[in-house]
Amino acid sequence: MSPMHTSDTRAPDALVIGGGIIGLVTAWRAAQRGLATAVVDPEPGGGAAQVAAGMLAAVTELHYGEQTLLGLNLESARRYPDFAAELSEATGHDLGYRRCGTLAVALDADDRTHLRELHALQQRSGLESEWLTGRECRRLEPMLAPGVRGGLRVDGDHQIDPRRLASALVTACERAGVVFHRAWAERLNVRGERAAGVRTADGADLAAGQVVLAAGSLSGRLAGVPAHVVPPVRPVKGQVLRLTVPRQYAPFLSRTVRAVVRGSHVYLVPRENGELVVGATSEEMGWDTTVTAGGVYELLRDAHELVPGLTELPLTETRAGLRPGSPDNAPLLGTTGLDGLLVATGHHRNGVLLTPVTGDVMAHVLTTGELPDHARPFTPRRFSAAATLTEQPA
Ligand code: GLY
Repeated sequence: MSPMHTSDTRAPDALVIGGGIIGLVTAWRAAQRGLATAVVDPEPGGGAAQVAAGMLAAVTELHYGEQTLLGLNLESARRYPDFAAELSEATGHDLGYRRCGTLAVALDADDRTHLRELHALQQRSGLESEWLTGRECRRLEPMLAPGVRGGLRVDGDHQIDPRRLASALVTACERAGVVFHRAWAERLNVRGERAAGVRTADGADLAAGQVVLAAGSLSGRLAGVPAHVVPPVRPVKGQVLRLTVPRQYAPFLSRTVRAVVRGSHVYLVPRENGELVVGATSEEMGWDTTVTAGGVYELLRDAHELVPGLTELPLTETRAGLRPGSPDNAPLLGTTGLDGLLVATGHHRNGVLLTPVTGDVMAHVLTTGELPDHARPFTPRRFSAAATLTEQPA
């Protein structure tokens, strides 16, 4: 597929459905490459980034069977310093990008076994992490519970404030000439077996050379998308708390601290402005974004086991968001089986981390029709190929 540069000034070269961080970074990078670009979203800068903690945790969030995803995560982590500097420079926004590192700790013997296995996997994968005794962990973070049995120090896993990131991306898009249509995308318009644009909920038909579906967990729900190219994403609910560290308690924690408590992940992400983000549940609850007493209880119970002094802090916000989960937990990036339709979705737990590389990959595909080598495993077509194989008669 070759990129389409429409001569009609009313129709953009690229129309991005979804103004979350993934849609915005795609639009920003596309506009920087000279494509006339538009975004359709009733509230650009909203979405899962309003809930996410913003850990850039390629190493501490490594999971068995996700080594291919690790490559893309590391590629994006490598791009973060330049990306953050460029975005700050372009917008004047402070992104809350903090190169503070992460400490993953174990609270009991089972946790320690789990963390030792993670350490071994990290080492086999050539990643940098250092095993610390409980005493060494508490020397780094004195607020940790006395019972901490050991931990992993990962100096390369940082954080950014996703709300500030989203807001900066809106500004960067505006400054790069991206046009915003503040409406819901209701239907993909298909003409002659090619994606031709979008009908919005307020009845406008927006034509475009290429359409990028980047609507997070909603990406599988757009009417008009032919069944064989509907991205297989589902909502994975995450409840997240925000507390405030009063000035007299600072520094409460100096880096991100995380643990697996009774099989559930809990993490504490301290911002320089005193915000302390505590996350997150992971629930298969469909489209439900209710904050539940049970969710808040479990997060506070686990966080309290990790850092007992935390219960003294004001609880300032509780919120739930939806991660766009994919069947292999990795994103879908690039062209689909419908000409003119691309997707950038399915980022699941790694949307904030994968923002820089996603923008670059999508701008590359939009302008060349090809995925760069490091992104080839993430083609959305990997799922249609599997579907075709299973449909073949024995
Ligand atoms: N990456 C953190 C989360 O998804 O909760």
